[in-house]
Parts: sequence; C-alpha cells; structure tokens
Amino acid sequence: MQKQKIIFTQDIENDLTNALHRRPYDKLFILTDESTLKACASRIKDFPCLQEANFITIPSGDLNKNITSLQSVWNALGELMGTRKSLLINLGGGMVTDLGGFAASTFKRGITFINIPTTLLAMVDASVGGKTGINFNGLKNEIGVFNMAESVIVDADFLQTLDMPNLLSGYAEMLKHGLISNTKHWAALLNFDWHEPDFRKLQHLIAESVRIKEAIVEEDPYEYGIRKALNFGHTIGHAFESLSMETHHPLLHGYAVAFGLICELYFSFLKWGFPKDKLVQTVQFIKEHYGIYNIDCKQYDRLYELITHDKKNTDGIIYFTLLGEIGEIHINQPATQEEICSVFDFFRDAGF
Ligand code: GLY
Repeated sequence: MQKQKIIFTQDIENDLTNALHRRPYDKLFILTDESTLKACASRIKDFPCLQEANFITIPSGDLNKNITSLQSVWNALGELMGTRKSLLINLGGGMVTDLGGFAASTFKRGITFINIPTTLLAMVDASVGGKTGINFNGLKNEIGVFNMAESVIVDADFLQTLDMPNLLSGYAEMLKHGLISNTKHWAALLNFDWHEPDFRKLQHLIAESVRIKEAIVEEDPYEYGIRKALNFGHTIGHAFESLSMETHHPLLHGYAVAFGLICELYFSFLKWGFPKDKLVQTVQFIKEHYGIYNIDCKQYDRLYELITHDKKNTDGIIYFTLLGEIGEIHINQPATQEEICSVFDFFRDAGF
C-alpha cells in the first residue's frame, strides 16, 4: 500500500492547494455529511482551489454509514461525470472519511481521495491508516477495503467548535496510543487540563498520537501482526458500545473505548503484570473525565456473546492485545469466559 502524506496544517488553504497540485485531476468532489456541511464547509468552500468543486452530502450519523449512503455517493459521482482521474475530498468525522474512502476506492475501480478530518476521533484514528468501509447487516465496518488517502490534512482549528463529549471521545484513542507506545506520551495525556484546554498543546499531542499510529500502520498495514495493538481496549469496548445501543443509551465510541481500556488494562495486570500504579492512574483519569458506565452481572453473558462476534476473532477463540508495561505489547492473547467475567467484576468494583 502506498504511504499517505499526513500534514499538520497551520494554513489549510495553502496545504490543500499544494496537495491538489501534487495530484492532477479532471473533476473535484467534496463529500460532507449534513453536520459538516453546516459546521465546517464554510471554512474551505471559498478557497480558489475549490471553486470548481462539486459538493456531495450524505445524512449524518453512524446509522447512515450504510449501503444507501454509499450508493448515493456513487450515483452523484456518476451523474456529475466523475472519471478515473477525478479526486474526492472527504471533509468530516470518521463516518465521512470511512464511507468516502470506500466510495473513492471503488468508483471506477478507484479514484484519488484526500481526508480532511473534522473531529478528534477522525484526526487521530479513522482518517489515518487506510481503513475504509461501511456498516452492513447490522455489523460495523463489515464491508470495506484497505486503501490509503493520498493526503490527510489535520487542522486542529476544526476542534474549536467540537463539543466536549466528542473531544473526549477522540481523546480515548489518544490514551490508547499513549498506553501502547511510551510512558512520556501517556503521562502528558494524563496531565492535559481538560477544564481549561490549551488547543496549541492539544495540537502537539495530536501530532504525536498520529505519529504513533502511522508508525504501526507502516509496519503492518493489513493488520497481520503489530497493527492489532491498535485494537487495545476495543475488544471489550466494542461490546460495551453494542450493549449500550441495545439498551437504548448509546455510548460515544471513545467512551466505550475508555471503559474498554480499563478492562483490558486490568486484564494486562492479571496476565502480564502491567504495573498497578499506572493502572490506577489511568482508571482515575477515565473515571474523572468519562464518568461511569454501570453494568450488571446479568449482562455478562450478553457482553461475552458480543465479544465472540468480534470479527477479529478466529477459530472460536477470543483474542486480546495486552500490555506488560506501557509500550510492551502482547498480541493474540487468548482469554476464557471465566477470565473475561473476572475483568467485568473489576470494572464494576472500580465504581463503573
Ligand atoms: N482503528 C484501528 C486501526 O486503524 O487499525
């Protein structure tokens, strides 16, 4: 897979113009959802480099990351005379960059695309690393391909208008990057003051976080090995996310991941001796910033069932990524139902 160019911009007009010059195209399209059309498109739409661009807009929300929205993008590209030499800019959160990346990767067997993530979650995770796709048959990201954006342009100014829950949602992926990489970055993340956020400082943390993901993706773009480290916190996190939908109190993805991190850090402590002080500090940070998520022991069976549906499991065995220390990664760690239930017990006792 080609390497993508990740640009941390202070001047989005200049960096976008340069990115467009690097890749000659015949027609230019900008994909947004209804929210980013309202909240973000005005920042870029008057740029001279975009004067010929056609906007395509899909409904917002993960529920619309589906075949119907995808089909509407393919239709629009076709009706607006897109060709193999056309270029698509995806302006939005992870839903837009995932679906737009897949639409671009499949239209006429693949056209060039550029991601401009507008949420923290998309900046540090979804828009980077070449995972594209849609939800299908009730399963998240069931259909998709690995294909890198030509460029990812990260402009932290988009975050100024993002609400706190969505900022924290993205921050959970950054915490994960800290845990799987190095103590210095992890400590800097725990010390960030969310009561009076300094966006310049946040921008540095974002750049460091993206570099961590980029290095892992470069080593293993198709997730045969070390890229599984990026699933840390997600095996149980995804089960919490699904359960929260079933019980009609949906958690934002990053909140589910934050709660999953607690569980999988504790499991790391049990299996690989992850240091207790770092476990406690991370638990405290998550409790303080993400609040509580109550689970009941009657829900353990359902949670376990949801974990078994994770598409990353093979041959009926549940595998986790665990840590022996910050940055000491152990992939493909099998777990029994009993072990997973003891992790849920810890989660409940920790006051969640
Ligand atoms: N979101 C995890 C990954 O990109 O592999």
